[in-house]
Amino acid sequence: MNRDPVRLGILLSGRGSNFRAIAGAIQAGALKGAEIAVVISNVADAARLAAARELGLPTAVFESKGRKRAEHDTDVITCLRQHRVDLVCLAGYMRLLSPEFVAAFPNRILNIHPALLPAFPGLDAQEQAFAYGVKVSGCTVHFVDEHLDHGAIVLQRTVPVLDGDDAHTLAERILVEEHIAYPEAISRVVSGEYEIQGRRFVRRGS
Ligand code: GRF
Repeated sequence: MNRDPVRLGILLSGRGSNFRAIAGAIQAGALKGAEIAVVISNVADAARLAAARELGLPTAVFESKGRKRAEHDTDVITCLRQHRVDLVCLAGYMRLLSPEFVAAFPNRILNIHPALLPAFPGLDAQEQAFAYGVKVSGCTVHFVDEHLDHGAIVLQRTVPVLDGDDAHTLAERILVEEHIAYPEAISRVVSGEYEIQGRRFVRRGS
């Protein structure tokens, strides 16, 4: 059966390497059944969306600085709806979502976090993990609920912490795994072949 591609809305605030990994996977045919409908930044800085524009993708900026969360989120939700987005992918989006945003896309928002949740939620996760002295860290792709870095986990990839590491080298190796994990997680969600049982994301037939 040929289904319409699932339309992704990418939200970012920073350098956008996870966005580029997702776009690259789609272009390479490694992430089938998905297309990018719009790329949205909450920071007004042309460089952040340059890669999206070069790919010919629709982009939008809704600056969040100094605005009430709910008001800003209303603009973003409206934009996502205008672009008929099915699945929202937070890719370095440094902003908590309002409950209204989460409710507008129930189990339809993904995030990537650079640690093995539930360890080290919040900011500077790689530094937190390094300073704690863990021997294994990694990244987590999860659904977004109303709590920080909390929803059902779609997949995780691990990274060993080496004796010679510092927080920066660890973060770099985690980022390599993020770029594999996010397209793979999106592919699993886009397939529709899963159930969420409590907190557990379970693939059908597995
Ligand atoms: C990544 O480490 C991601 O896990 C975290 O923010 C960073 C974004 O990096 N949520 P990039 O903008 O995708 O390069």
